[in-house]
Amino acid sequence: MAAQALLSVGERRLLRGVDEQRALGAALARALAPGSVLFLEGELGAGKTTLTQGLLAALGFDGHVTSPTYALMQLYPASAGQVLHVDAYRVRDVAELYEMDLDELIAGSRLSVIEWGEGLYADYPQAPIYLFEHVEGDPETRRVTRRR
Ligand SMILES: Nc1ncnc2c1ncn2[C@@H]1O[C@H](COP(=O)(O)OP(=O)(O)OP(=O)(O)O)[C@@H](O)[C@H]1O
Ligand SMILES: [Mg+2]
Repeated sequence: MAAQALLSVGERRLLRGVDEQRALGAALARALAPGSVLFLEGELGAGKTTLTQGLLAALGFDGHVTSPTYALMQLYPASAGQVLHVDAYRVRDVAELYEMDLDELIAGSRLSVIEWGEGLYADYPQAPIYLFEHVEGDPETRRVTRRR
């Protein structure tokens, strides 16, 4: 898997294929300090789960990874520490997540990946936000932009 450098805020890059998508996830896993939150944005099929797979593999988990759309939250026991994966797509009010002890789960995790987490951006102001998009005419590529 090709090494993938991190993006600076505002930077945009093309990720050509699943390997580059996963490699960015791996680079983020290594760069983000224990307890960090990472926000992912992007329409259906933009590559959020693929990036999360690369991130989890780098932390020592290579089991099955999907978007926890119905469960809202999933904990993965990676060898480098627990990873929390949240899919807030169906959440109307972030109070629902806090009622599920979101902040304690984040505090107890090596890393927390949150999809569709706009309602939490102000509460976790240090957390980077990455946006993924399809590229018109090129189904084998995605565009990534670091928004914060
Ligand atoms: N950088 C990339 N280049 C080409 N294909 C990619 C890239 N990243 C992911 N894909 C492919 O795009 C498809 C959708 O990816 P993925 O499931 O990760 O998207 P998602 O954002 O999690 O979608 P959803 O919102 O539906 O859960 C998969 O078939 C995956 O292999
Ligand atoms: Mg997904």
